Amino acid sequence: MISLSKKYLTSIVDLDEKEIMNLISQAIDFKRNKDSSKYNESLTGKTLALMFEKPSTRTRLSFETAMFQLGGNTIYLNFNDLQLSRGESIQDTAKTISLYADCLVARVYSHNTIVELAQHCKIPVINGLSDLFHPCQILADLMTILEHKHRFKGLTLAWIGDGNNVCNDLLIGCAKMGLNVRAAIPQGYEPPIKILDLVTHESELKKSDFMIVREPIDAVKNADIVVTDTFVSIGKENEDNRRRSAFIPKYQVNSKLMNSTKDDAIFMHCLPAKRGEEVTSDVIDGKNSVVWDEAENRLHVQKSLLVSLLT
Ligand code: CP
Ligand code: NVA
Repeated sequence: MISLSKKYLTSIVDLDEKEIMNLISQAIDFKRNKDSSKYNESLTGKTLALMFEKPSTRTRLSFETAMFQLGGNTIYLNFNDLQLSRGESIQDTAKTISLYADCLVARVYSHNTIVELAQHCKIPVINGLSDLFHPCQILADLMTILEHKHRFKGLTLAWIGDGNNVCNDLLIGCAKMGLNVRAAIPQGYEPPIKILDLVTHESELKKSDFMIVREPIDAVKNADIVVTDTFVSIGKENEDNRRRSAFIPKYQVNSKLMNSTKDDAIFMHCLPAKRGEEVTSDVIDGKNSVVWDEAENRLHVQKSLLVSLLT
């Protein structure tokens, strides 16, 4: 099993190019062996705690399935069922979880909660989505790109829409792997400046291009990959109306926009999607969409990550 320099994953920032490539290669092997018994006992006796403050379909299901298929066990902890919801500190909760479990996946509102958990847990902590980052999703996205395009360097990825958690880690991940990125994001919805600076720095090191533009058409021209996400992330529901008017219809990925990409461009979305908002049904259900490979790959990259952190 490959080893990682950090025993936690709070963001793609925590991984270097080689570690990302190794995690993906190992995930491809998990995928190839999905019907064999090769890895059935990789995590026997290990317990993964899943602490969720927000809803999830793919993240919870894929981690629970991964642990089951690797011979381990999971415990799902809804925030509201924990003493944390009655005021126990994150520090004491982290210490307690570390006494029983071997690894923790946490999905939280504030990224500070992930940082605090990682500081105080004696076991590896994996970010299962915070307001700032979604590293497990980006590992699956990069794996999906490699499966369909067979390389990273020289490709151009267009991000269309909100500069949110998925966008932040995707920009960082693409910069680390040497992809060119053009992100069409309305003014006021860009990623934090610190993240943009980091992406610019990484892109310079890898001699790739990174650009924020306002017009979606400028981002997708000759792109190999088009990616979007919801305009209203979990926790942003009170901004619903303001966001809808900032994003719709200009930032919607529809067939007209996809006509400006390369002919073999792929469409990606982390899901859940709001059809008719950030993407039209003909695009997400169309021949260039790889969203279901992307969702399946969550399982394989998470297996790869779990064995790397736990063995
Ligand atoms: N893409 C993703 O993280 O999906 P869930 O919110 O369903 O876990
Ligand atoms: N940006 C979305 C991603 C969901 C997987 C959200 O935070 O709700």
